[in-house]
Amino acid sequence: MPPADTDSSPILSIRAVGKAYGEHQVRALHDVSLVIERGEFVSLMGASGCGKSTLLNVIAGLDSASSGEILFDGKDVTKLSDEQVTELRAKKIGFIFQFFNLLSTFTVAENVALPLDLAGAISPSERQQRVVEILTKVGMAERLKFYPAQLSGGEMQRVAIARALVHKPELIVADEPTGNLDSENGKNVLALLKELNKTLKQTIVMATHSEEAGAVGDRIIRMKDGLVVSDSKN
Ligand SMILES: Nc1ncnc2c1ncn2[C@@H]1O[C@H](COP(=O)(O)OP(=O)(O)OP(=O)(O)O)[C@@H](O)[C@H]1O
Ligand SMILES: [Mg+2]
Repeated sequence: MPPADTDSSPILSIRAVGKAYGEHQVRALHDVSLVIERGEFVSLMGASGCGKSTLLNVIAGLDSASSGEILFDGKDVTKLSDEQVTELRAKKIGFIFQFFNLLSTFTVAENVALPLDLAGAISPSERQQRVVEILTKVGMAERLKFYPAQLSGGEMQRVAIARALVHKPELIVADEPTGNLDSENGKNVLALLKELNKTLKQTIVMATHSEEAGAVGDRIIRMKDGLVVSDSKN
């Protein structure tokens, strides 16, 4: 297989993916089909409840699809075992949550190191170096030993972003990464994602309510009631 940066096949092919929740079978996704190319920065937009988080969660293997196929690097994630999905996520996907999801009893450095620990063998010195390097990039290197409760919302999101990026994932999935930030911190987060997308060619799929945030992407996909209703280059 050619190295990822010369591989012209799509990073994600989503084929007729459906998702129904619970005993009432609420249909959050209706046969969504999308192809996402390597290096794209895709904004996923639409009203509350239209299925953005559901789609991101099934793409990242945090939740399972009820029907359809999701090919990541050509492999159907829906056919993998839980263990294989966890491994794929640990190696190739970084997830940024709306509410940061930092572990409160872990320091900043320990939170950021988690994906490295999950991905397996790495020497303590390399681990430390990677943690410091990525925290420097998000302007948080001075806070290595702080706990999440000692940080502001914007700082927590920067740490959460560092954690999503520390293992250099091919795909960054961000669910409303600016939803809980003030406008200045929100702009900084968007600028950082844009820079990573440009310089490291990481593929980004970002859900957002905000037209301003969505405009940072180079492709905008709009959803309504579990369906993709428009898909255009920005
Ligand atoms: N765990 C769940 N159990 C049952 N229904 C769910 C569950 N999670 C989501 N849903 C339903 O699926 C639909 C899509 O939800 P989803 O969270 O994907 O929307 P969203 O576009 O991310 O909305 P928001 O912008 O408010 O975050 C909604 O109708 C929601 O009520
Ligand atoms: Mg959501």
